[in-house]
Amino acid sequence: MMKIAFIFGTRPEIIKLSSVIRLSVREKIPFVTIHTGQHYSTVMSRRFFRELDLPMPDYNLNIRSKAPWRQGDHTGRMMMRLEQILLKELPGVVVVHGDTNSTLAGALTASKISTTKAFTGFDIKLAHVEAGLRSYDRSMPEEINRIMADHLSDLLFVPTVKSRDIVLSEGVKRKKVFVTGNTFVDTLYFKRPEWSGNLPGSPDKGGYILLTIHRQENVDDKKRFVGILKAIKKIGVDHKLPIIFPAHPRTVKKMEEFGISVSGWMELMEPCAFTEFIALEANAALILTDSGGVQEEACVLLVPCVTLRDSTERPETVDVGANIIAGIDPVNIVKSARVMLSRKRDWKNPFGDGRAAERILDVLVRQFGRKK
Ligand code: UD1
Ligand code: UDP
Repeated sequence: MMKIAFIFGTRPEIIKLSSVIRLSVREKIPFVTIHTGQHYSTVMSRRFFRELDLPMPDYNLNIRSKAPWRQGDHTGRMMMRLEQILLKELPGVVVVHGDTNSTLAGALTASKISTTKAFTGFDIKLAHVEAGLRSYDRSMPEEINRIMADHLSDLLFVPTVKSRDIVLSEGVKRKKVFVTGNTFVDTLYFKRPEWSGNLPGSPDKGGYILLTIHRQENVDDKKRFVGILKAIKKIGVDHKLPIIFPAHPRTVKKMEEFGISVSGWMELMEPCAFTEFIALEANAALILTDSGGVQEEACVLLVPCVTLRDSTERPETVDVGANIIAGIDPVNIVKSARVMLSRKRDWKNPFGDGRAAERILDVLVRQFGRKK
């Protein structure tokens, strides 16, 4: 059986590859895990290995970003180390997830090694989990990363039919593309006994608004960030709901740098563990976010969501009525919150049945099952 190399670096990649890694352990599929170190705080990385029953990474490259305008430096440093490790481990297939700099570094490195096949014999296939997402906004680093990963990949595991159609329309060959559902649903169901304990009858149910915000375009731009926070404050006051805010470290650093204080009107806290965060999402009256994964989770948990961005690569959430893309105009954010707070929570889950990992591993074993 060929060896898989899972390459990841951030919180959402660890969470969303976890079901595939757990299943690989169960099925005794040989694999190696490589953490780029992009996320390094315990609350953004280490804690999830314990919580999600994952083996600790075989390698941790400890490669941190230096500044948002030095993305080439970040990606390049990862590639140099990844190449050394992949040439040592020689996996049959590299699996990357999503749209971060770690995704791009893993995808490019594996593809570059394969271009030497004629004279080295090294041939590493590339598989992209959560392929086919597009915001159609190339000013976002994530859009560049996901387009590159999709077009370099030998196998594209897309969460929905919509994402399949996107990559097909861009000329990706149909035989490379597999609709699997989103892997976060697998983990949501796997951890249900832990998070659902806090649900029915909870005194907090519907008693607060949950906020997450961390995207470069929102929090690195002071004017934009302050405008969004003003709108959020008004929403809390208008609806007499407290705002709970487990803040990403990037956001906390920017708040300190810009001298922004939210004390007195917002409950700012450390990033949560996965099950703790899911329980917070599931109990919320409304979720305000610029996260990709949180838009999806809100949709599956039947919690209304307002997205604090100009675009989404998760249009399925809008199509079913679970999400409004409010942009950053404070008036529109406040209006969107009012609409979503009164929306009936009866939409359908577009992200699958929680068996994405089985489908992904099934394809990998069928395609690369023989020893190289
Ligand atoms: C990255 C991804 C983004 C994803 C997010 C998930 C890129 C370009 N961006 O953004 O798509 O939505 O992860 O959370 O890959 N920091 C810490 N501790 C950590 C991690 C980050 O303090 O564990 C701080 C550091 O100051 C760092 C900054 O956050 O410089 C930004 O981190 P970085 O990994 O560059 O980007 P994210 O904002 O986390
Ligand atoms: N998440 C978490 N704790 C938190 C906030 C988020 O475990 O305090 C999880 C959330 O459930 C989701 C993922 O992190 O699975 C989303 O990651 P993030 O918002 O950092 O990145 P994005 O999805 O925007 O790339």
